[in-house]
Amino acid sequence: MKNILITGGSGFIGSHVVRLFINKYPNYNIVNLDKLTYAGNPENLTDVEDAANYTFVKADINDDKVIFELFEKYKFEGVIHLAAESHVDRSISNPKQFITTNIVGTLNLLNAAKDCWKDNMDGKIFYHISTDEVYGSLGADGYFYEDTPYDPRSPYSASKASSDHIVRAYNHTYGMPVKISNCSNNYGSHQFPEKLLPLMINNIKNSKPLPIYGEGVNVRDWLWVVDHARAIDDVFHKGRVGETYNIGGYNEWKNIDIVHLLCDTMDDKLGREKGTSRGLITFVKDRAGHDMRYAIDATKIKEELGWEPSVTFEQGMNKTIDWYLANEAWMENITSGAYLDYYKNQYINR
Ligand code: NAD
Ligand code: TYD
Repeated sequence: MKNILITGGSGFIGSHVVRLFINKYPNYNIVNLDKLTYAGNPENLTDVEDAANYTFVKADINDDKVIFELFEKYKFEGVIHLAAESHVDRSISNPKQFITTNIVGTLNLLNAAKDCWKDNMDGKIFYHISTDEVYGSLGADGYFYEDTPYDPRSPYSASKASSDHIVRAYNHTYGMPVKISNCSNNYGSHQFPEKLLPLMINNIKNSKPLPIYGEGVNVRDWLWVVDHARAIDDVFHKGRVGETYNIGGYNEWKNIDIVHLLCDTMDDKLGREKGTSRGLITFVKDRAGHDMRYAIDATKIKEELGWEPSVTFEQGMNKTIDWYLANEAWMENITSGAYLDYYKNQYINR
């Protein structure tokens, strides 16, 4: 059995990666290290938590002593590092936690791996999961390529850019066998409803206002989370050490257009008169420093690793909406309590 460490496995993307690896690789013992912050939810993994090749460890990547002890105990062969503070709006109101977790936490993991692998780095992999937001913001044309210069513009993207640089520096300086991928916006099941799509789905269902920042003209490039997990599998197993891979599905939407699509699809699924949910749209004060457009060129991962999205956007979106409608209890459990305070601070009087 190879011990593989996945950090942040109880979050949105991490839970899909943990599920894929547990089911696909019975010869791996998957160790999910997660602090279970507000974004980490054990209910994301109830279907696989009893698997023989799964171990959960509640720990904080900022606690370097605990991280070193874990590497000592499990002698990990590979690391897939997803744990992070991930929400741009929270990074605007509380940047410090992003610097601590995303930068220092990543450094702690690199140091523990370096120490554990010091006698032999052959076959080991430290795979850091990053975002397209490190490249900055695009105008109407063009794409982000693997060699696009970094130009992060929010505390979130600046902290992710910093951690990417440190990961590359460990490769260059110490010969650490690292890989990095930078993905576009993900959508799918199990996403915490502070991000655009689950927030809108939940509000449409409950006939609550749909808060669109600014004029809704900002563009995001959306990828189904299961396809991101498949890409992570490909990069982990087939990607070249020291390389970066951009991941995206050529699927750009203006925020207002994607919310219109959600409204119309959900009116149909909920048996409401067409146009009902569009009436809930409310334009609110824009996000500070709001990046205008993200778009990924995913040629490299397609040509080198043969990865492509497995579903069309329409298929992925249908599966996603159906999942949220069928899993009311999941949504209710996380939108009671602290979520209500967050929601009030973020949206009331905006
Ligand atoms: P998420 O916020 O849903 O999950 C983050 C997970 O990390 C949670 O389970 C949380 O409990 C855990 N965590 C946070 N701080 C921790 C700490 N100090 N110690 C241990 N665990 C901690 O995030 P996500 O959307 O699943 O994103 C996962 C990764 O993918 C992040 O690194 C993010 O930057 C990157 N990413 C996300 C997207 C996206 O669209 N969501 C796109 C590209 C890249
Ligand atoms: P988000 O899901 O926070 O992802 P990111 O900022 O990392 O791209 O937001 C996606 C887009 O939706 C972004 O342009 C901001 C916008 N947005 C709204 O208009 N209203 C909202 O309530 C939220 C959460 C986001």
